[in-house]
Amino acid sequence: MISATTVEPSLLARYDRPGPRYTSYPTAPNFSTGFDESDFRRFAEVRGHRPLSLYVHVPFCSNPCFFCGCNRVITRSVARGEEYVRRLLQEIERVGPLFRDRRVEQLHFGGGTPNFLAPAQLGRIIEVLRRQFDFAPNCEISVEIDPRVLGNDDVRKLADLGFNRASLGVQDFDPDVQVAVNRLQSMEQTVNAIGDCRRAGIHSINVDLMYGLPRQTREGFHRTLEAVLDMRPSRLAIYGYAHLPQMFKGQRQINSDELPDPNTRVALLGMAIGALTAAGYRYIGMDHFALPEDELALAQDSGTLQRNFMGYTTRGGSDLLGLGVSAISHIGNSFSQNPRDLSEWERALDRGALPVWRGLSMDEDDVIRADVIGRIMCQGDVDIAAIERQYAIDFWTYFAGARPLLEELASDGLVWACSSRIVASPKGRYFLRLIAGCFDRYLPAGGAVSSGGYSKIV
Ligand SMILES: C[S@@+](CC[C@H](N)C(=O)[O-])C[C@H]1O[C@@H](n2cnc3c(N)ncnc32)[C@H](O)[C@@H]1O
Ligand code: SF4
Repeated sequence: MISATTVEPSLLARYDRPGPRYTSYPTAPNFSTGFDESDFRRFAEVRGHRPLSLYVHVPFCSNPCFFCGCNRVITRSVARGEEYVRRLLQEIERVGPLFRDRRVEQLHFGGGTPNFLAPAQLGRIIEVLRRQFDFAPNCEISVEIDPRVLGNDDVRKLADLGFNRASLGVQDFDPDVQVAVNRLQSMEQTVNAIGDCRRAGIHSINVDLMYGLPRQTREGFHRTLEAVLDMRPSRLAIYGYAHLPQMFKGQRQINSDELPDPNTRVALLGMAIGALTAAGYRYIGMDHFALPEDELALAQDSGTLQRNFMGYTTRGGSDLLGLGVSAISHIGNSFSQNPRDLSEWERALDRGALPVWRGLSMDEDDVIRADVIGRIMCQGDVDIAAIERQYAIDFWTYFAGARPLLEELASDGLVWACSSRIVASPKGRYFLRLIAGCFDRYLPAGGAVSSGGYSKIV
C-alpha cells in the first residue's frame, strides 16, 4: 500500500515545477492555426478506421467557482443555452456524414456544466447524434454533473436518455474553503445526487475533489475524504489545484496568501492517497483512483487503458471527435481543436464551416513518442522490445537524449530503466508526467518547462 509518507517533501521541492498533463502528445499548446478545416476533413475521410468516442462540451455555469480552469461561460440565461444547442446540432449534422462508417463506443458530456442544460435539451442533442452516428449497443454515455444545479427528477430523466455514468464535482466540503472558492455545496446536495444516480440505475459514479485550494487544512480535508469515502463512488479524481491567474481571470479572486504551502499541498495529496488506498481504491495514475472491480482498474490490468482529453479511458484504440466550443478531436494521426472563444465558434458555424481553429498533423516521431508517453501515463511501464519491434528503431539510440533526464529521476528512486524496460517506481507513479516529459521533444532541454501555462507536477 502506498502511504502518505512515500513522497518526501524534499523530492517535491526538487520537482515542484510546471509540466504538461499529457492528455495528448503533442500537447495542445503545440497545435497550430495552420491546421484548418480542410486538414480535418482529410483525416476524417480515411475510411474503415477506428471506432469513435464523442465528446460534447457545454460551457455554461450559473456561478463562477474562483479556482476554475475549465473553458466556461458564466450565465443564467436559458436563451443562451438554447442558442448553443441550436448551433451544436448544426455542428453535429455537418460533421456526422464524415464519420458514417464508424461505431460510437463512448459519448461524454463535459463542461462547464452539462446539466446547465435541461434533460430535454440534452435529449435533443443525443437524438441528433443517434441520427448522425452509429451507436454501439453497449455505448458508454457519461455526463459531468454539478450537484448544486440538479433538479428533482433530472437524474432519472438522464438515465432514461441512456446515461450510464456520472461524474460529480465536489472539491471540498469544508465551509471555509467553499467560501474562499465561491462554491457553496452542501453535503446533502452531493449525497442526494449520488442517491439519485443509484436509484436511477447509474452505478458508475466518479467524484472530483481538489487539493491545494485556499484555506484547506489537513483536518478539514480529512473530514472531506471521510465523507466522500462513505459515499463509496466507484472512481475518484483528486486534482491538484492549478493556480494560473494569468490564464484564468477568475482565479485572481483567490487570495494567494490563503493557498496552502507546498508542504501542506503534498501532505493533503499524501493523506488522500493513504485514505483512498486504505479504503480499497487503486491508484490508476495522474489524479485518478478506482475500485479494483471498476473497468478503469481492469483496463489497466489488461494493458488497454488509454489517456485522452477526458482523462483515462477504457476504450483504447478509438478516435475522438470533440463537438462544441473549445472541444478537441484526435482523428487518426491528427489533433484539432474548435475555437476556445464562444463567439468565434458561433461565427464559424454561422458561415457554414466546420469550426476548426487549430491542430496538428503528427509526424512519425510524434507517433513513436506519443506511444511511449501513453504507456508511461497509463501503465507506468514501457516494454522497450515492443516499441523497437513496432517502429523498427533501436530504442536507446533513438532516445539517447532522454537518458540524462531519466538517470536524474532514477537517482531519486522515481524510475527504473534498463535495456528492456522503463518502470515507474511506486512513488514515481505520482510523478508520471515528469517521467513522460523525458520523451517530449517539444519541451525545452531539462524536462519540464519553467514558466506559466502548465500546472505544477504535484
Ligand atoms: C468541468 S469541471 C466538472 C463538473 C462541473 N462543472 C462541476 O464543477 O461540478 C471538472 C473538474 O475540474 C477540476 N478543476 C477545475 N478547475 C481546476 C483547476 N484550476 N485545477 C485543477 N482542477 C480543476 C474540478 O475538480 C472540476 O470538478
Ligand atoms: S468548476 Fe465546474 S461549476 Fe465551477 S466554474 Fe468550473 S466548470 Fe463551472
